Amino acid sequence: MDVNQPLSLLAGLTPAQFMRRHWQKKPLLVRQAISGYQPFLSRAALARLASREEVESRLIVQQDNGWTLKKGPFATRSLPPLGQQGWTLLVQGVDLHEPAGHALLQQFRFVPDARMDDLMISFATPGGGVGPHFDSYDVFLFQASGRRRWKIGKQKDFSLQPGVPLKILQNFEADEEFVLEAGDMLYLPPRYAHDGIAEASIGPDGKPADCMTYSIGFRCPVEGELTADLLHRLAEMGEDAAESCDEESEGARAVPKRMYRDPAQPATETPAAMPAGLADFARQAVLEALNDPLALACALGESMSEPKPGIWFDEPEQAWDGEAAKAGQTGIALDARTRMMYDSEHLFINGESYRAKGADAVLMQRLANQRHLAASDLRKASKSAIALLGDWLEAGWLQQNEPSLSSKG
Ligand code: SIN
Ligand code: CO
Repeated sequence: MDVNQPLSLLAGLTPAQFMRRHWQKKPLLVRQAISGYQPFLSRAALARLASREEVESRLIVQQDNGWTLKKGPFATRSLPPLGQQGWTLLVQGVDLHEPAGHALLQQFRFVPDARMDDLMISFATPGGGVGPHFDSYDVFLFQASGRRRWKIGKQKDFSLQPGVPLKILQNFEADEEFVLEAGDMLYLPPRYAHDGIAEASIGPDGKPADCMTYSIGFRCPVEGELTADLLHRLAEMGEDAAESCDEESEGARAVPKRMYRDPAQPATETPAAMPAGLADFARQAVLEALNDPLALACALGESMSEPKPGIWFDEPEQAWDGEAAKAGQTGIALDARTRMMYDSEHLFINGESYRAKGADAVLMQRLANQRHLAASDLRKASKSAIALLGDWLEAGWLQQNEPSLSSKG
């Protein structure tokens, strides 16, 4: 993507300007971010998604006696009647199930993939919303159809209403108010308070329009969780290295596992006291795990490329024909659920890491950035790159294009 090209998606700003001026800093209202946009899911299709076990969905109903929250799946007939005001159905991870949802997210790839979370779609009857709240992450709120009134505020008081099943701000104070029509979009940085309420409206066809809001949501690692995950991965890497030493030395441990030893431990009269040497051993063990300068980067890439929880890849219908690929008869594309990233030394795909150098690294980096490779790219690929792609195809992480599609984006 040319990050210096002004985009109507960003109110005429270039991605570079948007990131400098707004990202993580201040809201941006975009009138007609995508004009003439046709929602790719009808209300009925959204309800069908919400009825699936593997799809995360929520139903929020606001009535005189307060809020109720239910988690899906929902049998389609169990949703409240359309004539009932003030309810909303929210479906998470739509990009994983709908190619058009995945395609929409691609327009936001001026933000690194490591930060991208998912596409959530909400449908609401008039008066429906999730209440005044804040999110911990950046979000683009795109009004795909119908109308929604947003009140937003740079909230200082983050106290929440007690006894409510949702995180609703107790003292929400709005600074600004906008009505978003189909095609409009609002960007909000993390912790910017907002309250979106669906309004009745008439669509271009003269019929009542469904209020459908698409949230393009981001993620970012939280310090403690990331530390826990990285240390776990580093420890596993250490175990793997020790095991491979075992194998090489045919049973005899070439590098024995380092264990705490205390031949100088004197007899103690305070048995509950922690031995000082143990703390030193623990510190040394953690430092040792970080000793390999590439280990942390490797663990981080594996962590960030881990697929969303609950994702399973399907076996391919078509067997990988490495010869045909090498002969440049077909291209490949990453599956919408595949997360692929890289750093200067590694490739990361769906939680696994590979060392890559030279032309193969350049090719795989192109695959990660474009999410596809044309037949002409594969013609230049090395045998080992083709073999690796074959493994990934068999795992369901990528798909072979029809020959006619192989040069498409
Ligand atoms: C919604 O789509 O109703 C809620 C989106 C949000 O406020 O983050
Ligand atoms: Co929100």
